[in-house]
Amino acid sequence: MLRDQDRIFTNLYGLHDWGLKGAQARGDWDNTKAILERGRDAIIEEVKNSGLRGRGGAGFGTGMKWSFMPKTEGVRPHYLVINADEGEPGTCKDREIMRFDPHKLVEGALIASFAIGAHASYIYIRGEFVREAEHLQAAIDQAYDAGLIGKNACGSGWDFDLYVHRGAGAYVCGEESALIESLEGKKGQPRLKPPFPAGVGLYGCPTTVNNVESIAVVPTIMRRSASWFTGLGRPKNSGTKLFCISGHVNKPCNVEEEMGIPLKELLEKHAGGVRGGWDNLLAVIPGGSSVPALPKSICDEVLMDFDSLRDVRSGLGTAAVIVMDKSTDIVRAIARLSRFYKHESCGQCTPCREGTGWMWRLMEKLVRGESSMEEVELLEQVTRQVEGHTICALGDAAAWPIQGLIRNFRSEVEKKIAGRSQSAA
Ligand SMILES: Cc1cc2nc3c(=O)[nH]c(=O)nc-3n(C[C@H](O)[C@H](O)[C@H](O)COP(=O)(O)O)c2cc1C
Ligand code: SF4
Repeated sequence: MLRDQDRIFTNLYGLHDWGLKGAQARGDWDNTKAILERGRDAIIEEVKNSGLRGRGGAGFGTGMKWSFMPKTEGVRPHYLVINADEGEPGTCKDREIMRFDPHKLVEGALIASFAIGAHASYIYIRGEFVREAEHLQAAIDQAYDAGLIGKNACGSGWDFDLYVHRGAGAYVCGEESALIESLEGKKGQPRLKPPFPAGVGLYGCPTTVNNVESIAVVPTIMRRSASWFTGLGRPKNSGTKLFCISGHVNKPCNVEEEMGIPLKELLEKHAGGVRGGWDNLLAVIPGGSSVPALPKSICDEVLMDFDSLRDVRSGLGTAAVIVMDKSTDIVRAIARLSRFYKHESCGQCTPCREGTGWMWRLMEKLVRGESSMEEVELLEQVTRQVEGHTICALGDAAAWPIQGLIRNFRSEVEKKIAGRSQSAA
């Protein structure tokens, strides 16, 4: 279990002052100038060595991503864009950072921007996060007033401006290139890649897009060192992680824990265990709605990190842990997710536009007990035709939960079909 002295987010529950004074008392903004004086390359190297992997879902190395930015600024300015869209169902960690620890994000934005040579950064925040945007803006204003950002930020000689941009609430705008389009004032539709944002991003300029949590942990890594961070978690899955635990547990919560903590320990230590006891567990979606649900037999042993969850054909995603006990109609639960993806498809590519609607309708038919096993096989095939054949990963996100259902909960699917043949008899 994570020791208190290794916690990064020491105000996760909002028990203390979230403003500048409180943040400074917790160690934020402590000689940030010295961190910047180490230079761009040294900061990128430290973040690379820490093994930090992006907390927005895909788990790409943060230091590696920064190193893709051009080494020197040409005629086109560089930008850091911070993804605070937090649209993945089940996920509610970035909002806690913004309401209760916003200075970690503001300081992280300065350090990350400096490392990639950006004088400006935009935080794209989901429109529904009204109070979070207020806290964030207040923290930014405090940082400007104290000379921590703005001209000659922290006395470093580096000029840095930070802006909050409120979105209008579309899941797809969390996809980095759709987010960039939306920031530019256009309809939020994903761009074809390549080119990647590091080459052609915001306003056609070199851009890095990172998740709120990825950026907010950077100041602590720089202060406590990469080796401290790699001492937590498991090889290639280092550090601490915010887990959002919801569903059929006794005490739903957000908690910071070590990467690689066993799922069972996570639920029992922090969320009061599964409602009705561990044996009453049916399934867990371990990383937000787009990753395949796991049956209890896998949940018994699985570790909560990128590689362990990939090995059981699911994923850590955003680390939003959705727990379902045996009272759940899991076919219906997954059908509800299919409806969500159908609703959120931006409609640009045919497999996603048509496939999400088609998959949802078949899932609804299955829920009503009106499907056959042949149709379930066809459904599985259609998920394979959507997966990997679209402009952005929303198509994959719509396909994976259904694949997980058919692979891991076949008996529940068969029960629906048996129900149909019984009522037909
Ligand atoms: C449909 C879709 C929605 C996404 N929504 C979010 C989101 O709300 N927040 C986020 O940080 N990343 C989201 N992502 C991932 C981003 O595209 C991007 O990978 C991430 O912001 C990179 O940050 P990281 O490297 O720090 O993880 C989404 C991706 C897709 C395909
Ligand atoms: S996969 Fe779906 S959401 Fe993504 S670009 Fe294509 S149609 Fe739009």
